[in-house]
Amino acid sequence: MCWRTRARDGSESPKWVGMMRGRTCSEQPGGLHSLVSLTQMWLRPCPITSLLFARANSYLVGMNKRTFLKNTAALGLTGLFPTVSLANWLSTFEGKSATELAGDESFWDGIRSGYRLKPDYINLENGYYCFLPEATLEKFVQHVRDVNYQGSYYMRTVQWDNKKRAAAKLAVLAGCSAEELIITRNTTESLDTVIAGQDWKAGDEAVMAEQDYGAMQDMFKHVAKRHGVVLKVVSVPNHPASDEEIVNLYANAITPKTKLLMVCHMINITGHILPVRKICDMAHSKGVKVMVDGAHAIAHIQFSIPDLHCDYYGASLHKWLSVPLGAGILYVKKENIAALWPLFGEEGKKQEDIYRLNHTGTHPVHTDLAIADAIDFHLQIGAERKEARLRFLQNYWTGKVRNLKNVILNTPADAARSCGIANVGIAGMKPGDLADVLMKRFKIFTVAIDGANVHGCRITPNLYTTTAELDTFVGALRQLATEAKG
Ligand SMILES: Cc1ncc(COP(=O)(O)O)c(C=O)c1O
Repeated sequence: MCWRTRARDGSESPKWVGMMRGRTCSEQPGGLHSLVSLTQMWLRPCPITSLLFARANSYLVGMNKRTFLKNTAALGLTGLFPTVSLANWLSTFEGKSATELAGDESFWDGIRSGYRLKPDYINLENGYYCFLPEATLEKFVQHVRDVNYQGSYYMRTVQWDNKKRAAAKLAVLAGCSAEELIITRNTTESLDTVIAGQDWKAGDEAVMAEQDYGAMQDMFKHVAKRHGVVLKVVSVPNHPASDEEIVNLYANAITPKTKLLMVCHMINITGHILPVRKICDMAHSKGVKVMVDGAHAIAHIQFSIPDLHCDYYGASLHKWLSVPLGAGILYVKKENIAALWPLFGEEGKKQEDIYRLNHTGTHPVHTDLAIADAIDFHLQIGAERKEARLRFLQNYWTGKVRNLKNVILNTPADAARSCGIANVGIAGMKPGDLADVLMKRFKIFTVAIDGANVHGCRITPNLYTTTAELDTFVGALRQLATEAKG
């Protein structure tokens, strides 16, 4: 028998995760106390093997801290507790393909147990921030403690070496050279660096879509006001007939004066995955550089940045990689680095050194340290499994409502054009009202999108989302579609 823990407030707590990864219990935030408090939680059966947790629990009853530590050491639990149990548990699924596992609730229920979930509502709004599983959170907290303990000594000695190490690990994940990637604070910083950093001349043109993220469109508006750049804005159809339809849309907006084209890898309001490589090749054939907004693509779908043939790529790591808030990447293809102006002043580095673009002043360096932990967690679950599950979840609920009267899906049905994110509206209902009703009547948290030819709620499940939760959501949509005025 194994167990899932549920606290008195209803929040679920992890089983294989934990409080003690790589350290003794006493070194952890909360230390023994936090583990003891777990024993006071309501235990209920669940499919994950948390044998070690159960063993530890039985040892805790009536035991003082010293005895506990002695016994955990004797059991070989210290430094091994959650990592090994997660790894062991994952290994029991080794024979199964990512596609088979995508719909295996016993597997994903185990992954879910590694998150601390609010019981108040079903969270279908992970697109803003994919909060951390407990394993990564505990490591992050330890990094905060470590940096705080070392203070200025840390900042004056190893902060940059450690940041470069994290960037190198990200470069492996992104399939690019470590000399082409830096850690930023978010997609906004990455892409605004590229937009503002061009050598703009009056009359130069830039191409983008109305479905692009507002902050980047705003930065283009700034350079338009400041340098006389002309902006050409296309509208991407929600249900294109082919890649060519989209490529041509962008191609038709390009003129001999076009200098930069911005395109989303995955449109955030619909989840629409665009044929980025084809757009890049088309733009390059006309001498235009391409900047890709990958805020939602990293650690969501599998790809390598160089395979996209883009010039610049920006993404946020606090989205699908579940890094603590405030981390992103900027990729600049080697040949484009020297020509880019930095946002913050930086002298003394070679013109072709990407770190010339990375001077942001003092910042939360403990976040940089947690990047490696988030990557480890991501890889442990497996990028292929993750993508397959996220796509499965989206298809699971969209498949049940796509043909319903009064239900409007704003995301392409083609599996290659979407993954975990989708957008749904109800005929005759304002998106804001739909989001309100979903939350107040059905306890389902989403976000309303009302603009750029998209009118509905964006639905972003995550790895901890269950099909049972999606059944509740589908039930709510069915009910609202029946009540709709149409
Ligand atoms: C497509 C897209 N680009 C850029 C951003 C901005 O991300 P951040 O706030 O992390 O800079 C977002 C945020 O949701 C987004 O969805």
